[in-house]
Order: sequence, then C-alpha cells, then structure tokens
Amino acid sequence: MKKPLKSYLLAPGPTPVPPQALLAMAQPIVHHRSPQFKPILEEVKEDLQYVFQTKNDVLILASTGTGGMEGAVTNTLSSGDKAIVVRAGKFGERWAEICEAYGVEPINIDIEWGRCVTPEQIKAALEKHPEAKAVFIQAHETSTGVKFPLKEIGEIVKDKEGTILVVDAISAMGAMEIKTDAWHLDVVVAGSQKALMLPPGLAFVSLSEKAWRFVERSNLPKYYFNFAKERKSLAKNQTAFTAAVSLIIGLRETLRQIKEIGLENIIAHNQRLSEAVKAAVKAMGLKIFTKEGLSEVVTAVEAPHGIDAQEITKIMREDYGITIAGGQAQLKGKIFRISHMGYVDEHEIIMVIAALERTLIKLRYNLTPGVGLKVAQEILLKDK
Ligand SMILES: Cc1ncc(COP(=O)(O)O)c(C=O)c1O
Repeated sequence: MKKPLKSYLLAPGPTPVPPQALLAMAQPIVHHRSPQFKPILEEVKEDLQYVFQTKNDVLILASTGTGGMEGAVTNTLSSGDKAIVVRAGKFGERWAEICEAYGVEPINIDIEWGRCVTPEQIKAALEKHPEAKAVFIQAHETSTGVKFPLKEIGEIVKDKEGTILVVDAISAMGAMEIKTDAWHLDVVVAGSQKALMLPPGLAFVSLSEKAWRFVERSNLPKYYFNFAKERKSLAKNQTAFTAAVSLIIGLRETLRQIKEIGLENIIAHNQRLSEAVKAAVKAMGLKIFTKEGLSEVVTAVEAPHGIDAQEITKIMREDYGITIAGGQAQLKGKIFRISHMGYVDEHEIIMVIAALERTLIKLRYNLTPGVGLKVAQEILLKDK
C-alpha cells in the first residue's frame, strides 16, 4: 500500500475536531437573527466565560486569531501611543508588526527564541517607559514552546492606571491555566482552531473594565473589528455582522465537552501527554529546543545534527499520515513541533512516537526501535 490509510493532526493548530462537533456543524444553516440561534449564542457566551475564567464579556469574531490581535490593538490604542512588546518568537513579532501598521510605537523586549521573559524585565521596561499604554505578550509562544509568567506580570501591570496587559492566548486558551480575572489580564485573545477543537475561523476577545475605558478613548481606525459594537450586539445574544453560525454551533458542542470534562482535568491530561512526549524524545537522544518555561501545549524538538527537520515532517506526513509542525522563520529546518492539545489521546501520543522512531531510522539516525516508546509507555502507565 502506497499511501497511509488514515491521517492524523498533531500540529499546534489546526487541531482535530471531535465528531460530535463535526456532526453539529453539518446541520442546515440557521439564520443568525432567528429565535433558534439566540439561545445557542447565549449558551456559548456563558461557556466561553467559564473557559476564559472571567466575568467579562467574551466577544466572538468571524476571523482567525490574528484578527482578534489586530482588533485588540485598534480598539484600545491611539495613534502615536507607545507599547511594550515581548518579542520572543514569531507571534511576539506579530504584535510589534500590528502596532507598527497602525502607528503605535513598539518598545520591544527581545528575548532569545526558546527563552522566557521575566517579570523583572517587564517591570524595568515600565519604569523606563511609564508612558507605555500597553504590554503585549503571548500566554504561550507557539513557535518556541515557551509559556510566560502571566500571573506575575499581571501583578505588575494591574496598578498602572495608564497601562493594560494584552495577552495572545490563541494557542493557550483551554490548554493551560489562564485565569483572566484573577491574574488581571486586561485583554485576552483566543482562536477556535487550537484547544477549543474547532476548524479555523473564530477569534475570541475578553476585555476588563479597565480595557473598556481604553476602548472609549481609542482613536485608531476600525470598522469590522469594532469591539464596542460587538459588545452591544452580544448583550442581545447576537454578533454585529453575520455570525459564523456553523462554527458557533460546533463551538457549543466543544464547550459542552470542555465543561463536562473540566478545565483542570484537561490541563492535567495535556501535562501528562507532554511529559510522555518530552521524556520519549529525550530517551531517543534528541534535544528539546525550549530552554525555559516548557509548555504542556507543544513539544519543540531540535532535529538531530545533519538532518533537516523538514525531512522529518515530510516523512511523518507522507509515509505515516501524521501532520506535525516544523519550525517557523529562523527555526525552519531546525526544529519540529508535536502538539498535545485539544482532541488528542494517549494512543495518538504512542503512535506519534512510534512513527517518529521509524522516520528517524529511515533518515539513518542511530536509534534502537522502541527506546522512546518504552519511556512514553512507562509514563502513561502511571496512575492518573
Ligand atoms: C500564539 C499564536 N498567536 C497567533 C497565532 C495566529 O493565529 P491565526 O493563524 O489564527 O491568525 C497563532 C497561530 O498559530 C498562535 O499560535
């Protein structure tokens, strides 16, 4: 047989969609202003607050996560504002690029890729630039597998009336601990195609009362991503423009599942899978790329010396039907990334390790089959 019979997604977005959500989304379209749709939006609205751990509204936008990031900039800031940006990977760079596109001056804290920003660095940047209107950061920098100390950073920004903390939690929401209100995260952006287990196409944004005061003063151009307008519509269980009805109906299913399992159990599951993958690749003699703040969302692994990481992802996909991710930008060819968030179970982790062993052996890497599997099995055999 030439081609693999089945295909599996273990990349950090898009992630697999559970069959219940796929079936729900296959239903005939309902009208977005109809009485059938409003209760769906109402339920989703409440369940999003559970996942975000917030009492604030969570806006639902028909766009990818980047649309939510762009809206977070254009709705809270004004032209000529300065903002501190943590640039520790591809997505930190995106915050700076959006700021520049709208005439906001980024004050970049550049961190070596694979390492973590410290709360002290944020504190020092704010002391040096008290005029900064915002601190932009990721919860989890997907390009490097680093998670940032949001709770501690929230403590620093919370008392600064003139500064908000804006968090890209696109690959973190529903996968790792994010306590929006308790940690004083003023703006939090999430996306549908990661741990929320849906196809790409929805962005979610929560804003604190402090952030809404920034919205009132913001003068940057905005039309489609108009948060004040979305908030008004949401109060009537609607969206400002035509709602992505099918995706929202799918979202109702996945949010129900998340609530039923419980966020804490999901996070513990991800930690367990992450531990198994990290230990297995190390047992195979490979090096984890991430130096600090290792996340339970993805495992970023350095390709062995003399092997291009793109060869690894290609064989995984073409020979074994498994999509993992390569490295982005400067890490292209150097690392590969295995995701363990969303609708992924223990057997798929065993499968990905087995396929990785075979791939590396095909690439003439010196490996005894089963060394990674043994370690992964031992970890997954431990009681939950
Ligand atoms: C941390 C982070 N930010 C932003 C994005 C961009 O999201 P989207 O591709 O949905 O616009 C991603 C996608 O991988 C991400 O992981």
